[in-house]
Amino acid sequence: MRRADVSRPIGVFDSGLGGLTVFKALSRRLPGEDLVYFGDTAHVPYGSKSAAEVERCSLAAARFLMGKHIKALVVACNTSSALALPRLRRELPVPVMGVIEPGARAAALASRGGKVGVIGTEATVLSGAYPEALRRALPGAKIKAAACPLFVPLVEEGWWGGPVALETARRYLSPMKRFGADTLILGCTHYPLLKGVIGRVMGPGVRLVDSAVEASKEAARQLEAMGLRRVAASRRGRWSFYASDAPRRVLRLARRWLGTGELRVELANLP
Ligand code: DGL
Repeated sequence: MRRADVSRPIGVFDSGLGGLTVFKALSRRLPGEDLVYFGDTAHVPYGSKSAAEVERCSLAAARFLMGKHIKALVVACNTSSALALPRLRRELPVPVMGVIEPGARAAALASRGGKVGVIGTEATVLSGAYPEALRRALPGAKIKAAACPLFVPLVEEGWWGGPVALETARRYLSPMKRFGADTLILGCTHYPLLKGVIGRVMGPGVRLVDSAVEASKEAARQLEAMGLRRVAASRRGRWSFYASDAPRRVLRLARRWLGTGELRVELANLP
């Protein structure tokens, strides 16, 4: 890639709005970079789809962002990262970064007793991608994975705390507590917003790994290593947002999650 490409934006995509957690973490770590976000709201959720369908949707999303002349792609969606990363890496002419490897490596460093739990969508858990990455990062680790499908709608409804979120977390996480996880990977875009209740249920001794934060650290590191990081101390990056359906809903949530009113979300027409 030529040096001039440094000024191009970084593409970030997710099945919907959850990837805004990754977007937020990236914008904090790389404030001078232009970022283009695409939420595939016409096809969300990916978490209950087949591997073939997740791959197809992910490829279409990535091609849309390639049309925005991105210099690198961050796959914010854990489900896409689990199921579509090899195909995206094969087919795209830019570096493609996911959330699984960074999350697994951070958990390996955080774990004191080698007992690591991971929670995510059904498709992410079925793929076995996190346990595989964890075994590479922490050979001999004891791993338990669990799907928590109700967490996604809870977050989108804005019920991040309170009795419903707490009770749901208690039910999903009691097997994880019995297992005795010392570290828990929040392996889904939406789960960092439930960190409060998840932490309360798991208890203070359990380390929570936020895959959004870890992915943003890793993206910054990789861009630097590839000479693709834009360093301009005084520059504030430009942000653009696209959604494949219902952009107004994305706008509402994006304003709340990112804490700024100055956003626009455009409708993306995918083929
Ligand atoms: N973005 C998805 C993930 O991180 C969660 C929502 C969905 O199922 O599409 O796995």
